[in-house]
Amino acid sequence: MPGQSPVEVALAYHERTKHHPHRFARSLGYMDWDTQPDPFRRFDGAPLLPLDLAPPTTDGGEPRYEPAFVEGGVAAAPLDRAAIGRLFQDSLALSAWKQAGTARWSLRVNPSSGNLHPTEGYLVAGPIPGLSERPAVYHYAPHEHALELRFALSTDGWRSLAVADGAVLVGFASIHWRESWKYGERAFRYCHHDAGHAVAALAIAAAGLGWRARLLEGVLDQDLAVLLGLHEQRGPEAEHADCLVLLAPEPISIEKQRGFAIPRALVDELRQARWSGMPNRLSPEQHLWPEIDEVAAATEKRAPPADAFWETAPFDNGSLVIGDSPLALRPILHQRRSAVALDGRTGITRGAFYQILLKTLPGRAQVPFAALPWQARIDLLLFVHRVDGIPSGLYVLLRDPAREPDLRAAFSDGFVWARPEGCPSSLPLHLLEAGDARKVAAQTSCGQEIAADGAFACAMLADYRRPIEEIGAWFYRRLHWEAGAIGQVLYLEAEASGIRGTGIGCFFDDATHLAFGLRGDRYQVLYHFTMGGPVDDPRLQTRPPYEHLSR
Ligand SMILES: Cc1cc2nc3c(=O)[nH]c(=O)nc-3n(C[C@H](O)[C@H](O)[C@H](O)COP(=O)(O)O)c2cc1C
Repeated sequence: MPGQSPVEVALAYHERTKHHPHRFARSLGYMDWDTQPDPFRRFDGAPLLPLDLAPPTTDGGEPRYEPAFVEGGVAAAPLDRAAIGRLFQDSLALSAWKQAGTARWSLRVNPSSGNLHPTEGYLVAGPIPGLSERPAVYHYAPHEHALELRFALSTDGWRSLAVADGAVLVGFASIHWRESWKYGERAFRYCHHDAGHAVAALAIAAAGLGWRARLLEGVLDQDLAVLLGLHEQRGPEAEHADCLVLLAPEPISIEKQRGFAIPRALVDELRQARWSGMPNRLSPEQHLWPEIDEVAAATEKRAPPADAFWETAPFDNGSLVIGDSPLALRPILHQRRSAVALDGRTGITRGAFYQILLKTLPGRAQVPFAALPWQARIDLLLFVHRVDGIPSGLYVLLRDPAREPDLRAAFSDGFVWARPEGCPSSLPLHLLEAGDARKVAAQTSCGQEIAADGAFACAMLADYRRPIEEIGAWFYRRLHWEAGAIGQVLYLEAEASGIRGTGIGCFFDDATHLAFGLRGDRYQVLYHFTMGGPVDDPRLQTRPPYEHLSR
């Protein structure tokens, strides 16, 4: 709407894209198969540099799963061709092909709402032994597991970024059309959940190489679009720059993270440069969703964050146990799948539940949350169904314990706020109300039974309005990234616990708020998640991810 501030546009977008039991957010309402977007962006004409595919590792193999979640837990690998192949294979690559009758589709290591994969990955790097002698900007092509060379940077241009030897930059961008094709107006939310999943997937893959990951929030979106070579893309299939992540084998200081910027001279040089390859056409035609273009423009980051953005109170996650489990990291990353149905029987122990929740906390050196520089703004509202040793019911996990007084005041009066038995001291978990939470979990998740049939489900509640007003409309995207990153950890933790998870983007926003007594928009739920014993669909066949390359 003309005259609205960017914050007002973001808040209004969120409000109008809520699902209600009798009114879903606007979408086409049917699947227009004629315009289904190609899930693979390619830059036609750009030189292709194939990456190596590492053979699968098994349990007992290195790196192990548990130590990868604490920075410094895995010895750092040198930057070379093998490491870059591994990084992408463990984060954005294909993980399998599925087949049902004549229909065949690929899955990826990173999940995506509707399997539509709006997120594109880019590498900006100096010379990489075995891969390239020159600094360059590349697009990652998951179907080929290869890098498309978009632009060879000058040595001076690369040096002007002041990235240390052995470190690289990875950028992300979203193609909104891939999601809006199916989900209409609500799609912008899903693009940013997916971006959060991708950032976390990258940070965890990097941790497997012993590398640290840090989001570089000093970078402005328009400059990032130029660095990634997206600045000339126009129209509904255009990629929108999301974020830039620094990956380094050494600790990255907050000053380095905060001070990183793309020098003006480099932006000017790249804007004039001849980039190789033309973006492929994804659909013969597109449906337009102007509300998405509006919220995308309103939530662009146009100025560096103010000081308040960087002020964080460190969280001491002293109860997280990095045990000596032989579980290997990479099999878990590659076997991650969404359950399509849960069995309504399988539960988990209280100890396993607590360890899963401890992994979702923003501990100081905890992967992947150490990558996100802002104060954690998302808490978990839990629907506990089958956790041995604690009562079923509604719980809250405070990912920032300082929010407790405000949430106590905002939640229903009748909540008990009791610490569950055996709860570790650094886990701010509270029972709110004992009882059967299955019905409310399914009802608030758009009636999806998977939210009732697991061991537990959760709704991710953002401290929403105040940080968006204080930091800026661009923080609307960050709240979804934080939710996506939590979702990524939950997916992996489900696999590591021998069960399976599913992200739930379809939920009734205000019905979830009401279940906890919340009114107004100071807090908003941004994402639901469930995990439990999976029920497989016997009609689906599974094929290896890259057999098409060996043919
Ligand atoms: C942000 C997000 C929202 C999702 N929402 C739902 C949902 O509401 N219901 C559902 O059954 N699956 C949902 N999923 C699961 C996706 O359908 C799934 O990730 C996708 O089909 C790819 O399959 P995979 O996760 O097995 O790789 C969601 C996933 C993500 C990442």
